Amino acid sequence: MSEIESTGPIGIFDSGYGGLTVFKEIHKYLPRYDYIYLGDNARVPYGTRSFETVYEYTKECVFKLFDLGCNLVILACNTASAKALRTIQQHDLPAGKKVLGVIRPTSEVVDQFTKTNKVGILATQGTVNSNSYVIEINKFHPEIDVFQHACPFWVPLVENNELNSEGAHFFVQQDLEQLLGQSADMDTILLACTHYPLLLPLIKKYVPKGINIISQGELVAKSLVDYLNRHPEVEEHCSKNQTLQFFTTDNPIDFNSKAEIFFGKRIESKFLKVST
Ligand code: DGL
Repeated sequence: MSEIESTGPIGIFDSGYGGLTVFKEIHKYLPRYDYIYLGDNARVPYGTRSFETVYEYTKECVFKLFDLGCNLVILACNTASAKALRTIQQHDLPAGKKVLGVIRPTSEVVDQFTKTNKVGILATQGTVNSNSYVIEINKFHPEIDVFQHACPFWVPLVENNELNSEGAHFFVQQDLEQLLGQSADMDTILLACTHYPLLLPLIKKYVPKGINIISQGELVAKSLVDYLNRHPEVEEHCSKNQTLQFFTTDNPIDFNSKAEIFFGKRIESKFLKVST
């Protein structure tokens, strides 16, 4: 990062509200820094979109965060991490800018939760199709068998605050049965979509006791603490005045009311225009 002389906030990006579940934990572990959260609520969901579309949308939002002064951006979205992170890192990054995702930090430590070495992944269709978790987990832990299941209805349920409705019960139970049916020995389920922790009370109802259910927020936050310790050349370009700013590509009033559910605190967001 030596080319960049200035400091700036850490950018946190998600297709919508889900990244707030990760941001909440990052802020808890690293409260000294400035942050800008950007939710692309106008174009959510990403999980059902093509590789090319997720890449274009994510790239545009990451560059908006760079324009707002961020030198480091966290993709707090599994779908964007699966489909756009590598290409952005390899082809698009201006000098001195960094982008990190959520799949690698989660995959690295998943072995700490399983004794049977049978791990289930619940994610969007895009994340499942990318096979990113299977590849990443097997890179770090080849002894682990990974089973995946896509839950296309969960993000709309969460975005619409349908966290305990009849429909939510129906889909959560059905999707969990389909995942658990893939292996009798599965002892760990990873919520590999940043929206899913909001459904945790419901998920717990339908998962047999003794199976670990993992949300990523804390894992990603601890990994970022470690990353900033190991990379002082990045850390020194992150400003530390404890400010939080929130941007949405859709209606800020809607964002403010729903964001409170995800972030646990009242927030005030501003509108940021994107191309379509
Ligand atoms: N929060 C995103 C993730 O972690 C998914 C939401 C979407 O489909 O846009 O994958």
